[in-house]
Amino acid sequence: MLSIQSHVSLKPYNTFGIDAKARYWVEIESREDLQTLLQLSEFLTIPKLILGGGSNILLTRNFDGLVVKNSISGIDVLREDDLHVYVRAGAGENWHQFVQFCVRNNLAGLENLSLIPGTVGAAPMQNIGAYGVEVEQAFEELEALNMNTGEVRTFRHADCRFGYRESIFKHEAKGLYIITHVTFRLDKTPTFHTSYGAIQETLAEMGISHDDLTIQAISEAVVRIRRSKLPDPAQIGNAGSFFKNPEIPKEQFDQLKAQHPDMPGYPIGEAAVKVPAGWLIERCGWKGKRVGNTGVHAKQALVLVNHGGATGEEIKALAKNVQTSVAEQFGIRLTPEVNFIE
Ligand code: FAD
Ligand code: EPU
Repeated sequence: MLSIQSHVSLKPYNTFGIDAKARYWVEIESREDLQTLLQLSEFLTIPKLILGGGSNILLTRNFDGLVVKNSISGIDVLREDDLHVYVRAGAGENWHQFVQFCVRNNLAGLENLSLIPGTVGAAPMQNIGAYGVEVEQAFEELEALNMNTGEVRTFRHADCRFGYRESIFKHEAKGLYIITHVTFRLDKTPTFHTSYGAIQETLAEMGISHDDLTIQAISEAVVRIRRSKLPDPAQIGNAGSFFKNPEIPKEQFDQLKAQHPDMPGYPIGEAAVKVPAGWLIERCGWKGKRVGNTGVHAKQALVLVNHGGATGEEIKALAKNVQTSVAEQFGIRLTPEVNFIE
């Protein structure tokens, strides 16, 4: 039975802790709930916001429409072959708990993505990534429901057009589909991704040598690194990296490197270089700075924070000022990773 409420505070439902209100609010627990919802004529034409864990959104004002909180649960092992096990999860499953399910069952591929907040259904939306792995590497397919027609569609890997923090769901398919289930292709024999220096250092601190390496150890190392670096939204409001790391032409990178010899950069093919936005923001003097109730995190300059009581507009204004500084000092335009809900 669907329970549609009105004038609901979204503060507990977004990790920035912004106190915006939803005109209407409903929680759905199955595809059938969704189909019932889409038959209610009074909600057909009003704007809708699909919400998972609210860990990658910035609510800039009250939402004058229907917020649909996705709580579709369930984890099912579908089938296996010699190399892989195929597991389907409901979009409302907590991401980290799903990763832990895989790790516990020796299903490899997602361990580097441990402790990323949010839900399974939002993971393909921006092709979540961390410590050398992106979710597309273990992605098999997803099922989504067209919000206009109620039709269920399966998206295979190629249909999703994955990129760095990108997918079709941030472009043509934005707001049109609600992802209900995602199927992952997990490996029976792990390939360990330990190229990130921090992972190697942490494994060494844990006393794990190359010969003892397991996906459980990698997951644990990633959890430790993340806890030491990233602010816990339960303590201080944030949505992880606020901007993407920009990719700039190699020529521009070489010019900047001549002026700033310590500028880090990671080659993307022959012609482009990815520059850590955190370094650019820190260099502009923003790290640890506070502006009213908003600020830039003291340990990670790519994370904007709500010190308490900030509005979405205030965070947006801070983000704009950070963008302007980086553009003026380095000629690089930072693109937000966070989804602005306007
Ligand atoms: P939400 O914030 O609820 O939604 C995000 C967007 O997806 C919205 O536009 C929403 O409408 C849409 N959406 C959500 N669910 C669905 C659905 N079922 N169907 C269709 N659209 C949907 N991200 C990384 O990639 N790597 C990291 O290392 C990382 N670290 C983080 C650390 C912290 C401390 C925090 C707070 C965030 C971090 N993030 C990271 C960002 C965030 O955790 C991910 O983007 C996550 O996938 C968002 O999931 P969510 O359920 O909270 O999505
Ligand atoms: N750096 C600074 N100052 C800072 C922060 C970073 O100089 O305050 C520089 C350092 O050179 C550092 C480099 O940036 O070596 C990279 O920093 P870090 O390893 O913390 O990672 P990141 O590039 O800032 C990205 C992702 C994270 C992901 C980590 C680990 C993006 C936008 N962010 O951050 O994802 O967890 O790598 O793989 O790609 C997210 O998307 O929300 C997120 C947290």
